[in-house]
Amino acid sequence: MQTTPAQVPSFAQARSYNPEDWQRGNDSQKQEFDYWIEDIEGEIPPELHGTLFRNGPGILDIGGQRLQHPFDGDGMINAIAFSQGKAYFRSRFVRTQGYLAEQAAGQILYRGVFGTQKPGGWLANAFDLNLKDIANTQVIYWGGKLLALWEAASPHRLDPGTLETLGKETLNGVLQNDAGFSAHPRIDSGSDSRPTRLVNFGLKPGLSTAITIYELNLAGEVVQQHTRSLPGFAFLHDFAITPNYCIFFQNPVSLNPIPYVLGLRGPGECLKFRSDQPTRIWIVPRNPSGKMQMLETDACFVFHHANAFEQEGEILVDSICYENFPAIDHHLDFREIEFATLPPGQLWRYRLNLQTKTVEHQLLEKRCCEFPYVHPQRLGRPYHQVYLAAAHQAEGNAPLQAILKLNLDSDVREIWSAAPRGFVGEPVFVPRLGQSQTNTEEGWLLTLVYDAAHHRTDVVILAAERISDGPIARLHLKHHIPYGLHGSFTAEYFGPPL
Ligand code: CO
Repeated sequence: MQTTPAQVPSFAQARSYNPEDWQRGNDSQKQEFDYWIEDIEGEIPPELHGTLFRNGPGILDIGGQRLQHPFDGDGMINAIAFSQGKAYFRSRFVRTQGYLAEQAAGQILYRGVFGTQKPGGWLANAFDLNLKDIANTQVIYWGGKLLALWEAASPHRLDPGTLETLGKETLNGVLQNDAGFSAHPRIDSGSDSRPTRLVNFGLKPGLSTAITIYELNLAGEVVQQHTRSLPGFAFLHDFAITPNYCIFFQNPVSLNPIPYVLGLRGPGECLKFRSDQPTRIWIVPRNPSGKMQMLETDACFVFHHANAFEQEGEILVDSICYENFPAIDHHLDFREIEFATLPPGQLWRYRLNLQTKTVEHQLLEKRCCEFPYVHPQRLGRPYHQVYLAAAHQAEGNAPLQAILKLNLDSDVREIWSAAPRGFVGEPVFVPRLGQSQTNTEEGWLLTLVYDAAHHRTDVVILAAERISDGPIARLHLKHHIPYGLHGSFTAEYFGPPL
């Protein structure tokens, strides 16, 4: 029997959810699907045209053995194609080498970054540093290619229509030896004088950390790359861009690899947060000949940045910060995690002054939140609205059950909550009038919501202008999808002919 802290009255009183409901959203989904979504509440806006692609762990156990952490789960791509008020659902696992080998063997054959071990205890795992490439973090359609991304390896390329895995992608030979290509590319939509670019980075860890910054044109060709070196170990999941800079937050963590090498822990479990050390903010000019600068601020831990922009000689960066690394005890099943014991992720604004070399920071949103999303045309530029997945309750860490819209000028908030039995994912913003309209915040938020009452997932469409009115459409899938990570929308329709 599972012990859940539901027996602890002080937590139970404040809870907006039942822990067993949350846990079931982590059940594996081993099946793949293709169907028209027919069970719909409300109406799909007829102008919503294109495809939402999402990635995330699809299976959380293999051959009856549970993975140590959901981040170790094999990537499953979901595509929801919208046109003429209809929606088509398709899902496929990314056929990585590791997925195919483990499914054939019916057991875990690889160690995972976040602590999944092969059967047989530490003896079976010691000195095996061969981690599985799981392609589970993000999926983007760029330059005519659909790419499943995972930060520690090169992308897998998929067919956008069938989601069939086509193989590893090198970007025309640029990514050699399975070089890393992060799961957080940023699209600079350009201006009259500057072209549109996809900007991304890849890391090569070592005694110092090499960061290679890639810029791709609309055709998907790498048109610029340069490599910079940061001293020491760096855990960098995401970055922010402006027209002139890439900004990286180097979290104050140290890595003790010995438990990993000995087969006792995954490398992600060997990170130690150093509250006595500053967070280092690296400002890297996008111009390869520009000089890199570093500023320091109080210790914090960042996975995701909402946005950054340049204003009156400063760079402003809005980021989700935790007061320390939200680690999970290796001996604890992640399904039994007590959220209230973890620090909440909160939205902060950092003002970087390159002249005075100072950093000021200010709390923008104290409610626990993650997965920030902004209008794609506002990325890297001054902006007004940020959309977040957030906790239902205003205080403390808790599962993400609500969508929050924060107006950064007026500090006005709007919230839609799926509590008590719904659990939300990243809200993907789709502009209503297409990519060419820059001066409007009209559009839709698309998010997947796990509905524990029916053990199924809904595709929820909210009008971005009126979040608190609730969904304009809820598309009930025939099954659940485990909690996912990131997604993206393309204006191309990849469903069957209508
Ligand atoms: Co991420």
